Amino acid sequence: MTILKYQSGFGNSCATEALPGALPTGRNSPQNCPYGLYAEQLSGTAFTVPRAESRRSWLYRIRPAALQKAFAPYGGALAWTNQFGHGPVSPNRLRWNPLPMPGQPTDFIDGMHTWAGNGHCDDLSGVSINLYAANQSMQQRFFYNADAEMLIVPQEGRLRLATELGLIDLEPCEIAVIPRGVRLRVELPDASASGYMLENFGAALRLPELGPIGSNGLANARDFQIPVAWYEDIEGGFELVAKFTGGFWRTMLSHSPLDVVAWHGSNAPYKYDLRRFNTIGSISYDHPDPCIFTVLTSPSDTPGAANIDFAIFPPRILAMENTFRPPWFHRNIAGEFMGLIQGIYDAKADGFSPGGASLHNCMSPHGPDAQTFEKASAADLSKPDYIRNTMAFMFETRRVIRPTDAAMASATLQAGYDDAWAGLQKHFDPNKP
Ligand SMILES: [Fe+2]
Repeated sequence: MTILKYQSGFGNSCATEALPGALPTGRNSPQNCPYGLYAEQLSGTAFTVPRAESRRSWLYRIRPAALQKAFAPYGGALAWTNQFGHGPVSPNRLRWNPLPMPGQPTDFIDGMHTWAGNGHCDDLSGVSINLYAANQSMQQRFFYNADAEMLIVPQEGRLRLATELGLIDLEPCEIAVIPRGVRLRVELPDASASGYMLENFGAALRLPELGPIGSNGLANARDFQIPVAWYEDIEGGFELVAKFTGGFWRTMLSHSPLDVVAWHGSNAPYKYDLRRFNTIGSISYDHPDPCIFTVLTSPSDTPGAANIDFAIFPPRILAMENTFRPPWFHRNIAGEFMGLIQGIYDAKADGFSPGGASLHNCMSPHGPDAQTFEKASAADLSKPDYIRNTMAFMFETRRVIRPTDAAMASATLQAGYDDAWAGLQKHFDPNKP
């Protein structure tokens, strides 16, 4: 018999049970569930959205989530905020070095640092962009985020996400998405872990439309992995931390909330290995817009203008002829926040380190640095460029991305980022067409 750790697919309605026969048949909430379990629905979309949009799961659990005492304010997570400010934002291009590891034992919740964001969780629109650095597993405590779906992008160190709906083991170059409200414990199999975490306040992330690309390509649905049911039946004193309306709250539980023995539905955490991305690009000339690299998208109310696009710049081959192969200079209406998981990003010769970040906001001009421009302008285009050992990504949003006060005051903010373009020379000669 094959023991599944994950089910594959994206947006499929899955069914999984950790004990045989734990899933009721025919009715979601029978008078008595098998094994004496409680039935509970977890909805991630309004009940009446079109069927294709609907995300909800039925959980069959030892105790219902309702079995909890009153919450009180939580005093931790001091660097995790939904305050992005309301005043003018500098149009300057910004870049940061990686976040240092904390000196004290710090877990995933307390090691979260909000770097930028827009919109607001109350409006179900916008994003919060966070960096995390942790050196301790969550111990005797659990967390859920009522404000946002969480997209976790590890940069260094593995994570084990023990969730209500199953276990997800994650390593750098993989991503995981945790739906709003799902309770989890984040464990660190290694001594430390750092990376990026996007909170999506808007519509749930999904695969982009493929248009003329056809039915295959970019991130393929079959490569998304959804955990199978797994549970722990343990009692004791456990803390449950909740993020709600940008604030943090805590209560105590007398049992682990990871007690879902079986579940079915479409509202579930999932993981994806970015190395499986089927990269599409030009095979003639010119560099396509970066939307060609979209892994997941959260649409807004305006068709084509995403609340958030998650795009990657993976290893790939550039074979275009008689053209400028790297990303060209541009000024975009979108806000672009970039991170680097490993290697070198091909549009910058140096200064953008794995674990670092950059922010190019609405209409702030950017593109290759001087060194990259000169090299690409003189490159031998008779041979392909093999871009290996890289994995950069971008959170691109329709709104201006507002850096937090902490990000602007951070010692990791680079002082001379504008100098990346300072060496661009004048080549114009009216006598040389
Ligand atoms: Fe850009």
